Amino acid sequence: MSKFIVNNSGPLQGFVEVSGSKNAVLPLMAATLLTRDECRITDVPELMDVEVMCGLLRSFGAEVHWDMKERSISVKADSIIDTYAPRDLVSKMRASVVAMGPLLVRTGNAKIPLPGGCAIGDRPIDLHIKGFHALGADIRITKEESGHECVEASAAKLVGTEIYLDTPSVGATENIIMAASLADGITIIENAAQEPEIVDLANYMNKMGARIKGAGTDIIKVEGVESLHGAVHSVIPDRIEAGTFMLAAAITRGDVTIGNMLTDHVKPIAAKLRECGCIVENTLEGTRVSMGPNPPVATDIKTLPYPGFPTDVQPQFMTFLTTVQGASMILETVFENRFMHIGELNKMGADIREDGRRAFISGSAKLKGAEVMATDLRAGAALVLAGLVAEGDTVISDVYHIDRGYDSIIEKFKSIGGSIQRI
Ligand code: EPZ
Repeated sequence: MSKFIVNNSGPLQGFVEVSGSKNAVLPLMAATLLTRDECRITDVPELMDVEVMCGLLRSFGAEVHWDMKERSISVKADSIIDTYAPRDLVSKMRASVVAMGPLLVRTGNAKIPLPGGCAIGDRPIDLHIKGFHALGADIRITKEESGHECVEASAAKLVGTEIYLDTPSVGATENIIMAASLADGITIIENAAQEPEIVDLANYMNKMGARIKGAGTDIIKVEGVESLHGAVHSVIPDRIEAGTFMLAAAITRGDVTIGNMLTDHVKPIAAKLRECGCIVENTLEGTRVSMGPNPPVATDIKTLPYPGFPTDVQPQFMTFLTTVQGASMILETVFENRFMHIGELNKMGADIREDGRRAFISGSAKLKGAEVMATDLRAGAALVLAGLVAEGDTVISDVYHIDRGYDSIIEKFKSIGGSIQRI
């Protein structure tokens, strides 16, 4: 299992470009199952999760070709031979669940072992199932001989309907949009998730001939069509990777310009950094993050579904706040267990107290290097940020979590002066 060694790097300086969005490319890949035609997706990030999704599509019978040099993936799912998502792939990546919607509406069946993914909460898929059931699917929970539970949805055809999501689940919104795109009639999704990745999916599917309106708002209307055709689409930049580099500039008191990002998508992160006294400017070549004349000040964070502050940048912002004079509080409202990084940061000398969904940080700690463990994708990224400012070596284990969601993270940090090695 590889590890990262990170050292105190001083203020990061320079220019770094973010890659295509992990959380956009995965549903875009699932959407290629909706047509027999060849589809192409460009600006694809080189991530382990993309590899897993390629495997998943192939297991259903799709032809998948990933040209890493060209950063493009082509998929042709003209004959789907299986609708059961293999456990070894699903257990690696919760996002596998978004293959259910396309499989169900294309073939009348979809079966998936109850998903795994990061250790950030039990992450049920009840809202996905509620959506499929509302569209007319029969739902069965079956037990495999291994004792694992599977959920199976089947329907001769799906019929459009109104669906209210109890929580604005990103994955459930994506799954229902895909299932409804080839259903009979109109589907209205209320309290839908509004993340930019959903807008990207709707834009791609509309290029394929779907009729989706309202993506990016909390009410999405999908008018079912007979069939979809192939299309080419470029993945939006990764706003969470962009936020991670914005925080890297802030925590190291550096001056970094981040290119290829869409400033609209990182508004909440920019707003909170400005509240702390950081300078965040949108320039021609990208977003420039530097420190103002005075030391940064503490602030409070409350994570919310988009357009609120993104939960996926909570660990990174918490790490920054451990180095800021004063008391901060973070309220994590999206996941019930996304504080696994607190113990690791406290090993490095941070002073963070956890109380349910609240974390109380008394800042201005001088972090010191330690042996720590990445507990999930974004917690791992937060530990890299901590290592960049800690005194002495920080050795991070279980970095496969980080490789799931960050393309060339070592090279990118080195390019702006980060001292980080993979061993
Ligand atoms: C997506 O996960 C992202 N992953 C996550 O990013 C992100 O943290 C999350 O959205 C929230 O923004 C991908 O897009 C691949 P949810 P998803 O369904 O779709 C509850 C990262 O680091 N819920 O919006 O799984 C759930 O338990 C990853 O890149 C239900 O109760 O998130 C959670 O508390 C981590 N029932 C909340 O909703 C359901 O049926 C948000 O989950 C579905 C979800």
